[in-house]
Amino acid sequence: MTRKSRLLVGGGVVVVAVAIAAFLLMWRPAIAPVSPPAPTSLDAQTRLAGARVVALGDCIVCHTAKGGKPFAGGLPLATPFGTIYATNITPDVETGIGSWSLEAFTRAVRYGVARDGHLLYPAFPYIHFTRMSDGDIAAAYAYLMTRDPVEATAPANKLIFPLNFRPLLAFWNVLFLHPGAQQPEASKDAEWNRGKLLADGLGHCASCHSPLNLIGGEKSGHAFDGGIVDGWEAPALNALGAAPKPWTKEQLVTYLRTGRTSEHGAAAGPMLPVTRDLATVPEEDVQAIATYLLSIQKPRPVAATNVSAESNTSTEAQRGAILFAASCAQCHGPKAPMQSIGERPTLAFSTAVNAASPRNAIQMMLSGNGWHGEDSMNYMPAFSQIYNDQQIADLASYIRATYSQRGPWTDVEAMADKVRKENNAR
Ligand code: HEC
Ligand code: HEC
Ligand code: HEC
Repeated sequence: MTRKSRLLVGGGVVVVAVAIAAFLLMWRPAIAPVSPPAPTSLDAQTRLAGARVVALGDCIVCHTAKGGKPFAGGLPLATPFGTIYATNITPDVETGIGSWSLEAFTRAVRYGVARDGHLLYPAFPYIHFTRMSDGDIAAAYAYLMTRDPVEATAPANKLIFPLNFRPLLAFWNVLFLHPGAQQPEASKDAEWNRGKLLADGLGHCASCHSPLNLIGGEKSGHAFDGGIVDGWEAPALNALGAAPKPWTKEQLVTYLRTGRTSEHGAAAGPMLPVTRDLATVPEEDVQAIATYLLSIQKPRPVAATNVSAESNTSTEAQRGAILFAASCAQCHGPKAPMQSIGERPTLAFSTAVNAASPRNAIQMMLSGNGWHGEDSMNYMPAFSQIYNDQQIADLASYIRATYSQRGPWTDVEAMADKVRKENNAR
Protein backbone atom coordinates (compact mmCIF):
# COMPACT_ATOMS: atom_id res chain seq x y z
CA MET A 1 0.00 0.00 0.00
CA THR A 2 1.33 3.42 -0.90
CA ARG A 3 1.61 6.12 1.71
CA LYS A 4 -1.22 8.01 0.07
CA SER A 5 -3.65 5.11 -0.08
CA ARG A 6 -2.76 4.21 3.53
CA LEU A 7 -3.68 7.71 4.52
CA LEU A 8 -6.91 7.46 2.56
CA VAL A 9 -7.91 4.17 4.14
CA GLY A 10 -6.87 5.45 7.56
CA GLY A 11 -8.92 8.59 7.03
CA GLY A 12 -11.89 6.54 5.90
CA VAL A 13 -11.71 4.37 9.01
CA VAL A 14 -11.63 7.44 11.22
CA VAL A 15 -14.63 8.98 9.46
CA VAL A 16 -16.64 5.78 9.82
CA ALA A 17 -15.64 5.34 13.48
CA VAL A 18 -16.52 8.92 14.26
CA ALA A 19 -19.84 8.55 12.48
CA ILE A 20 -20.72 5.39 14.39
CA ALA A 21 -19.79 7.06 17.68
CA ALA A 22 -21.94 10.06 16.81
CA PHE A 23 -24.80 7.86 15.81
CA LEU A 24 -24.70 5.97 19.10
CA LEU A 25 -24.31 9.18 21.06
CA MET A 26 -27.22 10.99 19.50
CA TRP A 27 -29.45 8.20 18.29
CA ARG A 28 -33.09 8.99 18.95
CA PRO A 29 -35.91 6.45 18.81
CA ALA A 30 -38.88 6.81 16.46
CA ILE A 31 -42.02 8.21 18.04
CA ALA A 32 -45.03 6.05 17.17
CA PRO A 33 -47.24 7.38 14.39
CA VAL A 34 -50.71 8.64 15.36
CA SER A 35 -53.81 9.36 13.31
CA PRO A 36 -54.03 13.08 12.54
CA PRO A 37 -55.88 14.88 15.35
CA ALA A 38 -59.47 15.73 14.40
CA PRO A 39 -59.61 19.46 13.59
CA THR A 40 -62.37 19.83 16.17
CA SER A 41 -59.98 18.64 18.89
CA LEU A 42 -57.84 21.76 18.30
CA ASP A 43 -59.63 24.83 19.59
CA ALA A 44 -60.01 27.98 17.52
CA GLN A 45 -58.15 30.14 20.04
CA THR A 46 -55.04 27.96 19.82
CA ARG A 47 -55.22 27.86 16.03
CA LEU A 48 -55.37 31.64 15.93
CA ALA A 49 -52.35 31.88 18.22
CA GLY A 50 -50.71 29.33 15.92
CA ALA A 51 -51.21 31.53 12.86
CA ARG A 52 -49.22 34.25 14.64
CA VAL A 53 -46.43 31.84 15.64
CA VAL A 54 -46.19 30.42 12.12
CA ALA A 55 -46.03 33.93 10.62
CA LEU A 56 -43.32 35.01 13.07
CA GLY A 57 -41.35 31.85 12.26
CA ASP A 58 -41.60 32.33 8.47
CA CYS A 59 -42.58 28.65 8.22
CA ILE A 60 -44.49 29.23 4.98
CA VAL A 61 -41.53 30.99 3.32
CA CYS A 62 -39.25 27.95 3.43
CA HIS A 63 -41.91 25.26 3.30
CA THR A 64 -43.60 26.42 0.09
CA ALA A 65 -42.06 25.85 -3.35
CA LYS A 66 -42.35 28.54 -6.05
CA GLY A 67 -45.92 28.28 -7.29
CA GLY A 68 -46.54 25.33 -4.93
CA LYS A 69 -49.22 24.73 -2.32
CA PRO A 70 -48.68 26.35 1.08
CA PHE A 71 -46.55 24.27 3.50
CA ALA A 72 -46.23 21.39 1.00
CA GLY A 73 -42.41 21.73 0.87
CA GLY A 74 -40.07 21.29 -2.08
CA LEU A 75 -38.33 24.68 -1.94
CA PRO A 76 -34.58 24.23 -2.61
CA LEU A 77 -32.33 25.92 -0.04
CA ALA A 78 -28.78 26.51 -1.27
CA THR A 79 -26.06 25.97 1.34
CA PRO A 80 -22.28 25.92 0.92
CA PHE A 81 -22.58 22.13 1.17
CA GLY A 82 -25.23 21.58 -1.48
CA THR A 83 -28.99 21.86 -1.80
CA ILE A 84 -31.47 20.92 0.91
CA TYR A 85 -35.19 20.73 0.17
CA ALA A 86 -37.72 21.86 2.74
CA THR A 87 -40.18 19.06 3.47
CA ASN A 88 -43.96 18.82 3.45
CA ILE A 89 -45.40 19.99 6.79
CA THR A 90 -49.08 19.72 5.83
CA PRO A 91 -51.09 17.06 7.72
CA ASP A 92 -50.88 14.53 4.87
CA VAL A 93 -50.28 11.16 6.54
CA GLU A 94 -48.02 9.61 3.91
CA THR A 95 -45.90 12.53 2.73
CA GLY A 96 -46.43 15.26 5.36
CA ILE A 97 -46.57 15.34 9.16
CA GLY A 98 -50.12 13.94 9.48
CA SER A 99 -48.92 11.03 11.59
CA TRP A 100 -46.85 13.20 13.93
CA SER A 101 -48.01 13.56 17.52
CA LEU A 102 -47.50 16.86 19.35
CA GLU A 103 -44.61 15.12 21.12
CA ALA A 104 -42.90 14.30 17.81
CA PHE A 105 -43.48 17.82 16.49
CA THR A 106 -42.10 19.36 19.68
CA ARG A 107 -38.98 17.18 19.46
CA ALA A 108 -38.40 18.32 15.86
CA VAL A 109 -38.68 21.99 16.78
CA ARG A 110 -36.58 21.75 19.95
CA TYR A 111 -33.97 19.17 18.98
CA GLY A 112 -34.02 18.90 15.18
CA VAL A 113 -35.09 15.24 15.20
CA ALA A 114 -37.75 13.89 12.81
CA ARG A 115 -40.57 11.60 14.00
CA ASP A 116 -38.78 8.49 12.73
CA GLY A 117 -35.63 9.51 14.63
CA HIS A 118 -33.42 10.89 11.83
CA LEU A 119 -31.55 14.11 12.48
CA LEU A 120 -32.70 17.17 10.55
CA TYR A 121 -30.36 19.57 8.78
CA PRO A 122 -29.91 22.94 10.45
CA ALA A 123 -31.15 24.66 7.28
CA PHE A 124 -34.30 24.16 9.39
CA PRO A 125 -33.45 26.77 12.05
CA TYR A 126 -34.22 24.58 15.07
CA ILE A 127 -31.22 26.01 16.92
CA HIS A 128 -33.35 29.18 17.13
CA PHE A 129 -36.81 27.63 17.29
CA THR A 130 -35.70 25.66 20.36
CA ARG A 131 -36.22 28.89 22.35
CA MET A 132 -40.00 28.75 21.73
CA SER A 133 -42.34 28.07 24.64
CA ASP A 134 -44.32 24.82 24.81
CA GLY A 135 -47.46 26.89 24.32
CA ASP A 136 -46.15 28.42 21.09
CA ILE A 137 -45.09 25.03 19.75
CA ALA A 138 -48.51 23.54 20.54
CA ALA A 139 -50.20 26.49 18.84
CA ALA A 140 -48.07 26.10 15.69
CA TYR A 141 -48.93 22.38 15.71
CA ALA A 142 -52.67 23.11 15.98
CA TYR A 143 -52.44 25.59 13.12
CA LEU A 144 -50.47 23.29 10.80
CA MET A 145 -52.63 20.25 11.59
CA THR A 146 -55.71 22.18 10.45
CA ARG A 147 -54.25 23.13 7.02
CA ASP A 148 -55.29 21.25 3.89
CA PRO A 149 -53.27 18.04 3.59
CA VAL A 150 -51.23 17.98 0.38
CA GLU A 151 -49.62 14.88 -1.07
CA ALA A 152 -46.10 15.95 -2.05
CA THR A 153 -42.65 14.54 -1.48
CA ALA A 154 -39.66 16.88 -1.55
CA PRO A 155 -36.88 16.00 -4.03
CA ALA A 156 -33.86 14.23 -2.57
CA ASN A 157 -31.18 16.54 -1.14
CA LYS A 158 -28.00 17.08 -3.14
CA LEU A 159 -25.27 17.30 -0.55
CA ILE A 160 -21.55 16.69 -0.73
CA PHE A 161 -20.03 13.66 0.99
CA PRO A 162 -19.86 13.16 3.96
CA LEU A 163 -22.59 15.65 4.83
CA ASN A 164 -25.20 13.53 3.10
CA PHE A 165 -24.72 11.21 6.10
CA ARG A 166 -27.19 12.58 8.64
CA PRO A 167 -25.74 11.05 11.83
CA LEU A 168 -22.78 13.44 11.47
CA LEU A 169 -25.20 16.18 12.47
CA ALA A 170 -24.93 14.86 16.01
CA PHE A 171 -21.53 16.54 16.27
CA TRP A 172 -22.84 19.73 14.80
CA ASN A 173 -25.61 19.71 17.40
CA VAL A 174 -23.14 19.25 20.24
CA LEU A 175 -21.44 22.46 19.07
CA PHE A 176 -24.38 24.64 18.09
CA LEU A 177 -27.62 23.40 19.62
CA HIS A 178 -28.35 24.61 23.12
CA PRO A 179 -31.85 23.26 23.52
CA GLY A 180 -34.56 24.71 25.72
CA ALA A 181 -37.15 27.45 25.89
CA GLN A 182 -35.90 30.99 26.50
CA GLN A 183 -35.73 31.97 30.15
CA PRO A 184 -36.80 35.58 30.66
CA GLU A 185 -34.15 37.97 31.95
CA ALA A 186 -35.53 39.35 35.18
CA SER A 187 -33.72 42.68 34.88
CA LYS A 188 -35.51 43.45 31.59
CA ASP A 189 -39.15 44.24 30.94
CA ALA A 190 -41.67 42.02 29.18
CA GLU A 191 -41.37 43.86 25.84
CA TRP A 192 -37.59 43.40 25.72
CA ASN A 193 -37.89 39.71 26.60
CA ARG A 194 -40.54 39.23 23.93
CA GLY A 195 -38.29 41.03 21.43
CA LYS A 196 -35.35 38.80 22.27
CA LEU A 197 -37.47 35.69 21.83
CA LEU A 198 -38.69 36.92 18.46
CA ALA A 199 -35.31 38.11 17.10
CA ASP A 200 -33.18 35.30 18.49
CA GLY A 201 -35.65 32.43 18.68
CA LEU A 202 -38.90 32.19 16.77
CA GLY A 203 -38.12 35.00 14.28
CA HIS A 204 -34.56 33.58 13.77
CA CYS A 205 -33.33 36.97 12.50
CA ALA A 206 -29.90 35.92 13.78
CA SER A 207 -29.77 32.97 11.37
CA CYS A 208 -29.38 35.29 8.37
CA HIS A 209 -27.87 38.32 10.07
CA SER A 210 -24.88 36.52 11.65
CA PRO A 211 -21.62 35.31 10.09
CA LEU A 212 -21.16 31.56 9.66
CA ASN A 213 -18.04 29.51 10.29
CA LEU A 214 -16.58 26.86 7.98
CA ILE A 215 -19.01 24.18 9.06
CA GLY A 216 -22.07 26.38 8.69
CA GLY A 217 -22.56 27.20 12.38
CA GLU A 218 -23.12 30.75 13.56
CA LYS A 219 -19.80 32.15 14.82
CA SER A 220 -20.03 32.32 18.57
CA GLY A 221 -19.93 35.84 20.01
CA HIS A 222 -20.84 37.37 16.64
CA ALA A 223 -24.64 37.20 16.68
CA PHE A 224 -26.15 39.97 14.52
CA ASP A 225 -22.74 41.04 13.14
CA GLY A 226 -24.09 40.52 9.60
CA GLY A 227 -23.97 37.51 7.27
CA ILE A 228 -24.41 36.33 3.70
CA VAL A 229 -27.57 34.53 2.61
CA ASP A 230 -28.67 33.49 -0.89
CA GLY A 231 -26.03 35.76 -2.39
CA TRP A 232 -27.21 38.81 -0.43
CA GLU A 233 -25.52 40.49 2.47
CA ALA A 234 -27.77 40.58 5.52
CA PRO A 235 -26.38 43.73 7.19
CA ALA A 236 -25.29 43.85 10.82
CA LEU A 237 -28.28 44.48 13.08
CA ASN A 238 -26.07 45.65 15.95
CA ALA A 239 -24.66 48.62 14.02
CA LEU A 240 -27.91 50.33 13.11
CA GLY A 241 -26.41 53.68 14.04
CA ALA A 242 -23.93 53.43 11.16
CA ALA A 243 -26.65 53.96 8.53
CA PRO A 244 -26.61 57.37 6.79
CA LYS A 245 -29.72 58.16 8.85
CA PRO A 246 -29.36 56.13 12.06
CA TRP A 247 -32.32 53.76 12.51
CA THR A 248 -34.96 54.78 15.02
CA LYS A 249 -37.56 52.51 16.58
CA GLU A 250 -40.29 54.02 14.45
CA GLN A 251 -38.32 53.53 11.22
CA LEU A 252 -37.55 49.92 12.15
CA VAL A 253 -41.18 49.13 12.91
CA THR A 254 -42.38 50.65 9.64
CA TYR A 255 -39.66 48.89 7.63
CA LEU A 256 -40.30 45.50 9.23
CA ARG A 257 -44.07 45.74 8.75
CA THR A 258 -44.18 47.20 5.25
CA GLY A 259 -40.80 46.53 3.62
CA ARG A 260 -40.06 50.22 3.25
CA THR A 261 -39.63 53.34 5.27
CA SER A 262 -38.80 56.96 4.52
CA GLU A 263 -35.12 57.10 5.54
CA HIS A 264 -33.81 53.71 4.36
CA GLY A 265 -33.69 51.46 1.31
CA ALA A 266 -36.53 49.02 0.78
CA ALA A 267 -36.52 45.34 1.75
CA ALA A 268 -35.31 43.15 -1.10
CA GLY A 269 -34.08 39.61 -1.69
CA PRO A 270 -34.56 37.22 1.23
CA MET A 271 -35.70 40.09 3.50
CA LEU A 272 -38.83 40.82 1.50
CA PRO A 273 -40.77 37.67 2.53
CA VAL A 274 -39.80 38.29 6.17
CA THR A 275 -41.49 41.70 6.05
CA ARG A 276 -44.53 40.19 4.35
CA ASP A 277 -44.95 37.78 7.26
CA LEU A 278 -44.37 40.51 9.84
CA ALA A 279 -47.12 42.56 8.17
CA THR A 280 -49.61 39.97 9.43
CA VAL A 281 -48.64 39.86 13.13
CA PRO A 282 -49.77 42.28 15.82
CA GLU A 283 -47.76 45.50 15.80
CA GLU A 284 -46.70 44.96 19.42
CA ASP A 285 -44.57 42.00 18.27
CA VAL A 286 -42.68 44.16 15.79
CA GLN A 287 -42.33 46.94 18.38
CA ALA A 288 -40.76 44.35 20.68
CA ILE A 289 -38.29 43.24 18.00
CA ALA A 290 -37.28 46.87 17.40
CA THR A 291 -36.85 47.50 21.13
CA TYR A 292 -34.63 44.47 21.47
CA LEU A 293 -32.52 45.32 18.41
CA LEU A 294 -31.92 48.87 19.60
CA SER A 295 -30.71 47.46 22.94
CA ILE A 296 -27.93 45.35 21.38
CA GLN A 297 -26.14 48.08 19.44
CA LYS A 298 -22.35 47.94 19.58
CA PRO A 299 -20.35 51.13 19.74
CA ARG A 300 -18.52 51.36 16.42
CA PRO A 301 -15.95 53.72 15.04
CA VAL A 302 -17.58 55.99 12.48
CA ALA A 303 -16.58 54.83 9.00
CA ALA A 304 -14.02 57.07 7.38
CA THR A 305 -15.49 59.45 4.87
CA ASN A 306 -12.77 60.02 2.37
CA VAL A 307 -14.34 60.73 -0.95
CA SER A 308 -11.57 61.79 -3.21
CA ALA A 309 -12.34 64.00 -6.14
CA GLU A 310 -10.99 61.30 -8.44
CA SER A 311 -13.57 58.73 -7.42
CA ASN A 312 -16.31 60.89 -8.92
CA THR A 313 -14.49 61.20 -12.16
CA SER A 314 -13.02 57.71 -12.45
CA THR A 315 -13.43 56.21 -15.90
CA GLU A 316 -15.73 53.56 -14.46
CA ALA A 317 -18.00 56.11 -12.80
CA GLN A 318 -18.10 58.24 -15.96
CA ARG A 319 -19.11 55.26 -18.07
CA GLY A 320 -21.66 54.37 -15.35
CA ALA A 321 -23.17 57.86 -15.47
CA ILE A 322 -24.23 57.34 -19.07
CA LEU A 323 -25.84 53.97 -18.31
CA PHE A 324 -27.54 55.44 -15.24
CA ALA A 325 -29.08 58.24 -17.29
CA ALA A 326 -30.39 55.68 -19.76
CA SER A 327 -31.70 52.96 -17.43
CA CYS A 328 -32.04 54.18 -13.87
CA ALA A 329 -32.63 57.92 -13.70
CA GLN A 330 -36.30 57.66 -14.61
CA CYS A 331 -36.80 56.01 -11.20
CA HIS A 332 -33.78 57.05 -9.15
CA GLY A 333 -32.81 60.46 -10.52
CA PRO A 334 -33.40 63.57 -8.41
CA LYS A 335 -36.51 64.54 -10.36
CA ALA A 336 -37.86 61.01 -10.74
CA PRO A 337 -41.43 60.36 -9.61
CA MET A 338 -40.15 57.63 -7.28
CA GLN A 339 -38.84 60.27 -4.93
CA SER A 340 -41.99 62.33 -4.93
CA ILE A 341 -44.63 59.61 -5.23
CA GLY A 342 -44.69 57.36 -2.22
CA GLU A 343 -41.90 59.38 -0.61
CA ARG A 344 -39.16 56.96 -1.56
CA PRO A 345 -35.79 58.03 -0.25
CA THR A 346 -32.80 58.87 -2.42
CA LEU A 347 -30.21 56.14 -3.00
CA ALA A 348 -28.01 58.10 -0.59
CA PHE A 349 -29.96 56.61 2.35
CA SER A 350 -29.52 53.02 1.21
CA THR A 351 -27.40 50.63 3.26
CA ALA A 352 -26.56 48.81 0.02
CA VAL A 353 -24.99 51.93 -1.49
CA ASN A 354 -23.07 52.79 1.70
CA ALA A 355 -21.95 49.26 2.63
CA ALA A 356 -18.32 48.20 2.77
CA SER A 357 -18.97 45.70 -0.03
CA PRO A 358 -20.79 46.37 -3.33
CA ARG A 359 -22.54 42.98 -3.09
CA ASN A 360 -26.11 44.16 -2.38
CA ALA A 361 -26.00 47.06 -4.84
CA ILE A 362 -24.84 44.61 -7.51
CA GLN A 363 -27.36 41.98 -6.46
CA MET A 364 -30.13 44.59 -6.65
CA MET A 365 -29.13 45.45 -10.21
CA LEU A 366 -28.75 41.83 -11.30
CA SER A 367 -31.88 40.45 -9.61
CA GLY A 368 -34.11 43.50 -9.24
CA ASN A 369 -37.04 43.22 -6.88
CA GLY A 370 -39.89 41.04 -8.12
CA TRP A 371 -43.26 42.18 -9.33
CA HIS A 372 -45.87 41.25 -6.73
CA GLY A 373 -49.01 42.43 -8.44
CA GLU A 374 -50.71 45.37 -6.84
CA ASP A 375 -48.41 45.28 -3.87
CA SER A 376 -45.37 46.20 -5.97
CA MET A 377 -44.16 49.47 -4.48
CA ASN A 378 -40.65 48.00 -4.31
CA TYR A 379 -40.57 46.79 -7.90
CA MET A 380 -37.31 47.22 -9.74
CA PRO A 381 -36.52 45.45 -13.02
CA ALA A 382 -33.60 42.97 -13.17
CA PHE A 383 -30.66 44.02 -15.34
CA SER A 384 -28.74 40.72 -15.45
CA GLN A 385 -29.76 40.08 -19.06
CA ILE A 386 -29.21 43.68 -20.11
CA TYR A 387 -25.80 44.60 -18.76
CA ASN A 388 -22.54 42.65 -18.60
CA ASP A 389 -20.29 42.52 -15.55
CA GLN A 390 -18.27 45.54 -16.56
CA GLN A 391 -21.40 47.64 -17.09
CA ILE A 392 -22.89 46.52 -13.77
CA ALA A 393 -19.58 47.42 -12.12
CA ASP A 394 -19.55 50.83 -13.83
CA LEU A 395 -23.07 51.52 -12.57
CA ALA A 396 -22.07 50.47 -9.06
CA SER A 397 -19.02 52.76 -9.17
CA TYR A 398 -21.21 55.61 -10.35
CA ILE A 399 -23.88 55.29 -7.67
CA ARG A 400 -21.20 54.91 -5.01
CA ALA A 401 -19.41 58.05 -6.14
CA THR A 402 -22.64 60.03 -6.52
CA TYR A 403 -24.73 58.93 -3.53
CA SER A 404 -22.27 57.85 -0.83
CA GLN A 405 -19.84 59.83 1.32
CA ARG A 406 -17.66 56.72 1.61
CA GLY A 407 -14.68 55.95 -0.56
CA PRO A 408 -14.88 54.02 -3.84
CA TRP A 409 -15.34 50.24 -3.88
CA THR A 410 -12.50 48.12 -5.20
CA ASP A 411 -12.71 44.95 -7.33
CA VAL A 412 -16.29 45.78 -8.29
CA GLU A 413 -16.23 43.87 -11.55
CA ALA A 414 -14.89 40.74 -9.85
CA MET A 415 -17.80 40.96 -7.41
CA ALA A 416 -20.29 41.36 -10.27
CA ASP A 417 -18.85 38.24 -11.89
CA LYS A 418 -18.97 36.34 -8.60
CA VAL A 419 -22.54 37.29 -7.70
CA ARG A 420 -23.76 36.49 -11.21
CA LYS A 421 -22.12 33.04 -11.09
CA GLU A 422 -23.61 32.37 -7.65
CA ASN A 423 -27.06 33.36 -8.91
CA ASN A 424 -26.76 31.13 -11.95
CA ALA A 425 -25.74 28.18 -9.79
CA ARG A 426 -28.84 28.49 -7.63
C1 HEC B 1 -35.03 28.75 6.75
C2 HEC B 1 -35.95 27.78 6.24
C3 HEC B 1 -36.95 27.14 7.18
C4 HEC B 1 -37.85 27.78 8.01
C5 HEC B 1 -38.00 29.27 8.25
C6 HEC B 1 -38.64 26.74 8.60
N1 HEC B 1 -38.23 25.51 8.17
FE1 HEC B 1 -39.00 23.72 8.73
N2 HEC B 1 -37.57 22.78 7.64
C7 HEC B 1 -36.71 23.38 6.76
C8 HEC B 1 -35.95 22.37 6.05
C9 HEC B 1 -34.89 22.62 5.00
C10 HEC B 1 -36.40 21.12 6.55
C11 HEC B 1 -35.90 19.74 6.14
C12 HEC B 1 -34.66 19.39 6.92
C13 HEC B 1 -34.15 18.02 6.60
O1 HEC B 1 -34.70 17.36 5.72
O2 HEC B 1 -33.21 17.61 7.27
C14 HEC B 1 -37.41 21.42 7.55
C15 HEC B 1 -38.06 20.46 8.28
C16 HEC B 1 -39.08 20.71 9.18
C17 HEC B 1 -39.77 19.71 9.93
C18 HEC B 1 -39.50 18.21 9.87
C19 HEC B 1 -40.41 17.63 8.84
C20 HEC B 1 -40.01 16.31 8.29
O3 HEC B 1 -40.68 15.86 7.37
O4 HEC B 1 -39.02 15.71 8.73
C21 HEC B 1 -40.74 20.33 10.69
C22 HEC B 1 -41.73 19.70 11.63
C23 HEC B 1 -40.63 21.74 10.39
N3 HEC B 1 -39.62 21.93 9.48
C24 HEC B 1 -41.44 22.71 10.94
C25 HEC B 1 -41.24 24.08 10.75
C26 HEC B 1 -42.01 25.09 11.44
C27 HEC B 1 -43.13 24.82 12.42
C28 HEC B 1 -41.51 26.29 11.04
C29 HEC B 1 -41.91 27.69 11.50
C30 HEC B 1 -41.97 27.90 12.94
C31 HEC B 1 -40.44 26.01 10.09
N4 HEC B 1 -40.32 24.67 9.94
C32 HEC B 1 -39.66 26.99 9.49
C33 HEC B 1 -36.54 24.73 6.59
C34 HEC B 1 -37.22 25.72 7.28
C1 HEC C 1 -38.85 51.07 -12.52
C2 HEC C 1 -38.13 51.82 -11.57
C3 HEC C 1 -36.66 51.46 -11.32
C4 HEC C 1 -35.64 51.40 -12.23
C5 HEC C 1 -35.68 51.60 -13.72
C6 HEC C 1 -34.43 51.13 -11.46
N1 HEC C 1 -34.74 51.00 -10.14
FE1 HEC C 1 -33.43 50.69 -8.65
N2 HEC C 1 -34.95 50.55 -7.33
C7 HEC C 1 -36.29 50.77 -7.62
C8 HEC C 1 -37.07 50.60 -6.42
C9 HEC C 1 -38.58 50.78 -6.29
C10 HEC C 1 -36.16 50.25 -5.41
C11 HEC C 1 -36.48 49.95 -3.95
C12 HEC C 1 -35.97 51.16 -3.29
C13 HEC C 1 -36.81 51.84 -2.30
O1 HEC C 1 -38.04 51.92 -2.46
O2 HEC C 1 -36.18 52.32 -1.38
C14 HEC C 1 -34.84 50.23 -6.00
C15 HEC C 1 -33.67 49.98 -5.31
C16 HEC C 1 -32.39 50.11 -5.82
C17 HEC C 1 -31.17 49.95 -5.08
C18 HEC C 1 -31.08 49.53 -3.63
C19 HEC C 1 -31.47 50.67 -2.78
C20 HEC C 1 -32.12 50.13 -1.55
O3 HEC C 1 -33.34 50.01 -1.55
O4 HEC C 1 -31.40 49.81 -0.61
C21 HEC C 1 -30.13 50.18 -5.93
C22 HEC C 1 -28.65 50.11 -5.59
C23 HEC C 1 -30.71 50.48 -7.21
N3 HEC C 1 -32.08 50.42 -7.12
C24 HEC C 1 -29.97 50.78 -8.34
C25 HEC C 1 -30.54 50.91 -9.60
C26 HEC C 1 -29.76 51.04 -10.81
C27 HEC C 1 -28.25 51.15 -10.84
C28 HEC C 1 -30.65 51.07 -11.84
C29 HEC C 1 -30.35 51.14 -13.31
C30 HEC C 1 -29.48 50.11 -13.83
C31 HEC C 1 -31.99 51.00 -11.28
N4 HEC C 1 -31.88 50.88 -9.92
C32 HEC C 1 -33.16 51.04 -12.01
C33 HEC C 1 -36.81 51.11 -8.84
C34 HEC C 1 -36.09 51.18 -10.02
C1 HEC D 1 -33.76 34.76 5.23
C2 HEC D 1 -32.77 35.64 5.73
C3 HEC D 1 -33.21 36.79 6.61
C4 HEC D 1 -33.98 36.72 7.75
C5 HEC D 1 -34.64 35.50 8.39
C6 HEC D 1 -34.06 38.06 8.25
N1 HEC D 1 -33.36 38.92 7.45
FE1 HEC D 1 -33.25 40.95 7.64
N2 HEC D 1 -32.24 41.09 5.90
C7 HEC D 1 -31.81 40.03 5.14
C8 HEC D 1 -31.10 40.53 3.98
C9 HEC D 1 -30.45 39.68 2.90
C10 HEC D 1 -31.13 41.94 4.06
C11 HEC D 1 -30.52 42.92 3.06
C12 HEC D 1 -31.43 43.11 1.89
C13 HEC D 1 -32.17 44.37 1.94
O1 HEC D 1 -31.67 45.36 2.50
O2 HEC D 1 -33.29 44.40 1.43
C14 HEC D 1 -31.86 42.26 5.28
C15 HEC D 1 -32.12 43.56 5.72
C16 HEC D 1 -32.63 43.86 6.97
C17 HEC D 1 -32.74 45.20 7.51
C18 HEC D 1 -32.33 46.48 6.81
C19 HEC D 1 -30.95 46.81 7.16
C20 HEC D 1 -30.47 48.04 6.46
O3 HEC D 1 -29.58 48.68 7.02
O4 HEC D 1 -30.98 48.39 5.39
C21 HEC D 1 -33.28 45.08 8.77
C22 HEC D 1 -33.57 46.20 9.74
C23 HEC D 1 -33.52 43.67 8.99
N3 HEC D 1 -33.12 42.97 7.89
C24 HEC D 1 -34.06 43.15 10.16
C25 HEC D 1 -34.42 41.81 10.31
C26 HEC D 1 -35.17 41.30 11.45
C27 HEC D 1 -35.60 42.11 12.65
C28 HEC D 1 -35.37 39.97 11.22
C29 HEC D 1 -36.13 38.98 12.07
C30 HEC D 1 -37.50 39.29 12.35
C31 HEC D 1 -34.74 39.66 9.96
N4 HEC D 1 -34.18 40.79 9.44
C32 HEC D 1 -34.74 38.40 9.40
C33 HEC D 1 -32.02 38.69 5.40
C34 HEC D 1 -32.82 38.18 6.43
